[in-house]
Amino acid sequence: MANKIPVGVLGATGAVGQKFVKLLENHPWFEITELAASDRSAGKPYKDATAWRQSTPIPDALKEHVVKPCAPGLDSHVVFSGLDSSVAGEVEENFARAGYIVVSNSKNHRMDEDVPLLVPEINPDHLDLIKTQRARRGWSGAIVTDPNCSTIGLVLPLAPLDRAFGVKRVIVTTMQALSGAGYPGHSAVDMIDNIIPFIGGEEDKLETEPRKILGRLEGDQIRFAECQISAHTNRVFVEDGHTECVSVELDKKPSLAEVARALADFTSLPQELKLPFAPARPILVTTDRDRPQPRFDRDAGNGMSAVVGRLRECPVFDIRFVVLSHNTVRGAAGAAILNAELMKVRGDLD
Ligand SMILES: NC(=O)c1ccc[n+]([C@@H]2O[C@H](COP(=O)([O-])OP(=O)(O)OC[C@H]3O[C@@H](n4cnc5c(N)ncnc54)[C@H](OP(=O)(O)O)[C@@H]3O)[C@@H](O)[C@H]2O)c1
Repeated sequence: MANKIPVGVLGATGAVGQKFVKLLENHPWFEITELAASDRSAGKPYKDATAWRQSTPIPDALKEHVVKPCAPGLDSHVVFSGLDSSVAGEVEENFARAGYIVVSNSKNHRMDEDVPLLVPEINPDHLDLIKTQRARRGWSGAIVTDPNCSTIGLVLPLAPLDRAFGVKRVIVTTMQALSGAGYPGHSAVDMIDNIIPFIGGEEDKLETEPRKILGRLEGDQIRFAECQISAHTNRVFVEDGHTECVSVELDKKPSLAEVARALADFTSLPQELKLPFAPARPILVTTDRDRPQPRFDRDAGNGMSAVVGRLRECPVFDIRFVVLSHNTVRGAAGAAILNAELMKVRGDLD
């Protein structure tokens, strides 16, 4: 454990918080030393405060760890946040103001002008906004966010397509897993034999977040990408893994083979730096005619790769495909861990 960076987890008892605890066990650079949650959990041993629902046991070192309240005063300088969005906004600001580096999953600060909405493969330079954030807000700490769990599956393939061919217009229809609603989430009675064609706030996120991520940092602000996105979001009876059907209009008119190559060959800074959570390939392209499927493909690249399949021409736009990504790994805790790894290498955690 010598020389690892001590980190805290805010919202450690929730679905995303548990994923941080699971994924950070044995991380080569980070070690969880503090767990924090609401007053309902503070003061209890972690094993009693959380309804653990991961496929591996609670790490021995954390079972008896006493949960702390979510207030500055933690010893760790770096905190991962899986806080409920009803409280994340204010709590994360309190931490950043007090000098902590907050690596967040919550929606509250994603669209703030001076907060990086980071996907390390796509917009690592947006981390330079930390300087602006500190200057404007007078903070010694900082907040860095990762995208919504359905945004990440869309923006990973859009990024290489935009670079190579220019993305003009997108229509996306999602089939989103139950775990995206936290635990206990929807009742089984509501979900069996059913699809719920509404996820509050989700379509707006899917239509705006990719435009910030694909945007260009110009001085101290981001010029949003000009593409237009129309989103339909649905909750389906799948445990983990968001599936999205995507049609894209491009500026250039590449062949399907050129599109497939642009997706499959896409690698970036995290792969060059060999960051521990960086998948060898951010996008895996399958030619199997009935894949990707959540049950079989969500763990690709340890849950950090998006799987693209059913790539074909679109009679209305130019191309269409299906993409699958793991919503609580690449869409939540794993994304924040990759963000923190890039920040460590750049010196943003100091
Ligand atoms: N689930 C996903 O796939 C996913 C993906 C991307 C982003 N997110 C975002 O990540 C965040 C967490 O989602 P989740 O699914 O993990 O939710 P969750 O299971 O409901 O967990 C929420 C966490 O927030 C804590 N909390 C609630 N009220 C609090 C308060 N007043 N003060 C301090 N802590 C409080 C809870 O602690 P107690 O147990 O003590 O109540 C719990 O640890 C949300 O903002 C969500 O939008 C989720």
